[in-house]
Amino acid sequence: MDENCNSLNCALPEIGYLAASILFIMGLKKLGHPRTAPTGNLYGAMGMLLAVIVTIAQMDFGATDTLLIIGTGLGLGALIGYVMAVRVEMTGMPEMVALFNGFGGAASALVAASEVFKLIDSGEWSELEELELRVAWIAIGLSALVGWVTLTGSLLAMMKLKGGVEIFGKWYRTPTWGPEWLNYVKGLILIAIIGLLYMTIKHPGEQDYVIAIIALSCILGILFVLPIGGADMPVVVSLLNSLSGIAAAFTGFIIGNNVLIIAGSMVGAAGLILTNIMCKAMNRQLIDVLFKSFGGSDKEQVTRTKVGSDPEEVAMVCDGISKCVIIPGYGMAVSQCQHQVREFADILEANGCEVKYGIHPVAGRMPGHMNVLLAEASVPYEKLIEMDDINSEMGECDVAIVVGANDTVNPAARSGEGPLAGMPIIDADKARVVVMVKRSLSVGYAGVDNDLFYEDKTMMLFGDGKQMMTELVSSLKDL
Ligand code: TAP
Repeated sequence: MDENCNSLNCALPEIGYLAASILFIMGLKKLGHPRTAPTGNLYGAMGMLLAVIVTIAQMDFGATDTLLIIGTGLGLGALIGYVMAVRVEMTGMPEMVALFNGFGGAASALVAASEVFKLIDSGEWSELEELELRVAWIAIGLSALVGWVTLTGSLLAMMKLKGGVEIFGKWYRTPTWGPEWLNYVKGLILIAIIGLLYMTIKHPGEQDYVIAIIALSCILGILFVLPIGGADMPVVVSLLNSLSGIAAAFTGFIIGNNVLIIAGSMVGAAGLILTNIMCKAMNRQLIDVLFKSFGGSDKEQVTRTKVGSDPEEVAMVCDGISKCVIIPGYGMAVSQCQHQVREFADILEANGCEVKYGIHPVAGRMPGHMNVLLAEASVPYEKLIEMDDINSEMGECDVAIVVGANDTVNPAARSGEGPLAGMPIIDADKARVVVMVKRSLSVGYAGVDNDLFYEDKTMMLFGDGKQMMTELVSSLKDL
C-alpha cells in the first residue's frame, strides 16, 4: 500500500465509484418506464460525471502535459457530443446511437491497446506471474476482438440505417450481401483470432499478434453486419450496443477499474435483454438473424395502383365512430406530426370516441421511438398499447389510422416468405376501415410491397404526414 495513503484517502475513490455504480443501477431501473425515464437518464449522467471526476482526481498530474491532454480531450469530446446532440434530427437519432455504440467499442479497444503496448514496450509483462499474464492477455485479446468488431460493425450499421452514404456528392446505397459461404469465412476468421490469442499468450512480448487480432476483428465486424438488413436491423443494433458494454467491461479488467467493469457489464446485460426483446418482437432466433441473413433482400418494385382519398372523405368516415386505433410508424417521425396526431385524437375523444395507440416494438428506427415522440406530444402513457394487447381489440375497431407505418402492419409478414416472414404485426387489417397516411404506395424499410394498401376497406391518404393530419384535423373541425 502507498505510504502516503491513510485509509480514508485510499477508500475515497472506491466510495466514489460505488456511488457512481449505485446511480447507474438506479438510473437503469428508472429507464424501465417512460414516465421515470428522464430521471433515469439524469441519474446515469450524474453517475458518469462522478466516475469521471473520481478518475481524474486519482491521476498523477506530475507530468506537465497530462492535464493539458486530458483537458483538451474532455473539452473536444464534450463540444462534439453537444453539437451532435443539438443538431441531430429526430429521424437521425438511430444512426447517432449506432455511431456512439461504435465509439464506445473503439474507446475501450484503444485504451486496452495502449495498455498492452505499454506493457510490451516497458517489458513489465515479464514480471507478471504466468496466470496473471494469461488473464491479462486473454482480456486484452477479447477487448480488442469485441471493441473493434463493435466499431466497424456499428459504422456499417449506421450507414445501413441511413440507407447509404454520400461520397463526393454521389449517393451509394449501403449493400446487403451475405451468401451462405460467408459464414464459413467468418468462422475461419474467428478461429484465426483464437489462434492469434493463443500466440500472444505463448509469446507475450510480440506486438504483431495483437495488431493482427485488431485487423481481423475490424474485418469480422464488417462481415458480421454486411448480410443483415431490412427488418432485422433493430436486433443487430441492440446487439452492437451490448457488445460496446462488454468491450468496456473487458477493458475495466485490463486497467483494473471497477466502475468500468460494472458500467460495462450493465450495458452488456441491458443490451442483451433488449436484443432478446427485439428477437421476440421480430419472431426471430438470434442465431438466424446473425447467420441466415433473411432480412436483406432487394426492395420490391411497386407496380399496382390505388386511387387516393382526401381528408374530407376520411373525416366523414371518422364522424360518429366509437373506437379508433392510431398506429404510428417511421413516417410520423419523419414528418414530426405527433402533435397533429394528438389533436386529431382529442377531437375524436371529445365526440365520444375511444382512441388508443397501437405501438409495434420495432416501429420507427429505434427502440421506443414512437413512445418518445408521443410523449413529446403529451399523449398519456396509458393510451399507448403494446402490440399483443391492441391486437385483441382490433376486431372491434371502427377505424385504424396508420400514420407513416408500413412494415409493422404489412400482412406479408404472416406468410412464411420474404424479409418480413414471421414478424408479428399490428392487425390493422382487422379494423372495419383502414386509413393509411403516407406519401405514396412505396415500400417500407424491409422493402416489401403491402397488400393492405389495395384492400377495399383501405383509404390511402397520400401526402406528408404533418400536412395530411393537419388537413384531417381541420376537416373534422368543419363537420
Ligand atoms: P416503415 O416500414 O419503415 O415505413 C415507413 C413509411 O413511412 C414508409 O413506407 C414511407 O412511405 C412513410 N413515410 C416516410 N416519410 C413520410 C412522411 N413525411 N409522411 C408520411 N409518411 C412518410 O416503418 P414502420 O412500420 O415503422 O416499420 C419500421 C421498420 O424499420 C421495420 O422494418 C423495422 O424492422 C425497421 N427498423 C426498426 C428499428 C427499430 S429499433 N425500431 C431499427 C432499424 C430498422 P412513403 O415513402 O410512401 O411516404
